[in-house]
Amino acid sequence: MQIEVKTKQKQYTVMLERGLLNKADSLIGRHGHVYLVSEDGVPEIFRKTLQQQYPEAAMYVFPHGEQSKNLSTWQKILEDMLAHDLGRKDTVIALGGGVTGDMAGFAAAAYMRGITYINIPTTSLSMIDSSIGGKTAVDFAGVKNSVGAFWQPDLVLVDPDLLQTLPVRHLHNGLVEAVKEGLTFDPELFAIFEKDDYLDHIDEIIARCLQIKKNVVEQDEREGGIRKLLNFGHTYGHALESYFGLDRYYHGECVGMGMLMIMNNPDLKDRLKKVLERMDCPVSCQYDPDAVYELLCHDKKADHDHVTIVQVDEIGKGHLVDWPLTKLKERLHHE
Ligand SMILES: NC(=O)c1ccc[n+]([C@@H]2O[C@H](COP(=O)([O-])OP(=O)(O)OC[C@H]3O[C@@H](n4cnc5c(N)ncnc54)[C@H](O)[C@@H]3O)[C@@H](O)[C@H]2O)c1
Ligand SMILES: [Zn+2]
Repeated sequence: MQIEVKTKQKQYTVMLERGLLNKADSLIGRHGHVYLVSEDGVPEIFRKTLQQQYPEAAMYVFPHGEQSKNLSTWQKILEDMLAHDLGRKDTVIALGGGVTGDMAGFAAAAYMRGITYINIPTTSLSMIDSSIGGKTAVDFAGVKNSVGAFWQPDLVLVDPDLLQTLPVRHLHNGLVEAVKEGLTFDPELFAIFEKDDYLDHIDEIIARCLQIKKNVVEQDEREGGIRKLLNFGHTYGHALESYFGLDRYYHGECVGMGMLMIMNNPDLKDRLKKVLERMDCPVSCQYDPDAVYELLCHDKKADHDHVTIVQVDEIGKGHLVDWPLTKLKERLHHE
């Protein structure tokens, strides 16, 4: 399957097919010299498969994890690109999850004021969520994704075979974003998760998510309007993520709980709870409501008494509504 994403910055292709990594070079073609960026948690066999296709290319491999997503790693990548005489017509290829894509994409955005960037995502989260849309960033001064750029890729190769080695908790972490997209935009996508065999439908799940994200990003490249709908569950989700720190819960797990917390419709809540439980994701947690509320206000930079949240009362019909901060606070106390 192939999707064309048309943004103001550029038009690019997202290919979704098993086995793409094995023929990446024939799909990518030659765009000057190639520079590969990956991290040490991506199975070595995948890195080797790519390197064999680009024997002359340098590869920068950084230590895996969110802890590496910072300006220091970014600078090291740029220094190494310079040391390898990469020029304006050359190409960066990312092979890894969302961390690698964000790092390599931001390096490509800044190097020589922007060079060609190709993404080969290797996690469910990066295939479903972060590979389309052009957001690139690093964490800075303790604030996640606070420094970055919009820099669209030139090509994205999504190969679901690469998910075979992904630990199941990580797999589900990314799939929660797909559940979110189903609830917000696509009842048929949500229906896949209401059956026990949802893992047999990974390719369709990714395809539906890519299509949704393409439609959203094309309408709203810089998150001025409809793109905000992708943030369903993220108001409480982000606050919980900050509250618990990096180790306790994954992003998707916090988003899952965040969706349950913000939803009003009890039947829908119940259905979502069953879906999350089937995925072995947490559906509730112990927290200090005042502390989470503080983090939420900080995250939203709330300088007024309302925030815009995403609400879903009917599957597939996510919409934006204004909630007073007092209501967000009350909910935290009563969950
Ligand atoms: N740019 C965007 O639009 C966007 C959107 C959502 C999230 N993000 C960012 O994405 C990041 C999270 O992405 P992620 O969940 O992919 O995390 P990640 O990149 O850290 O990968 C998760 C873990 O899986 C390992 N891994 C990667 N591929 C593997 C494979 N095929 N087999 C086995 N292990 C593998 C990694 O080494 C890592 O330990 C966050 O930094 C987040 O801010 C960006
Ligand atoms: Zn998310």
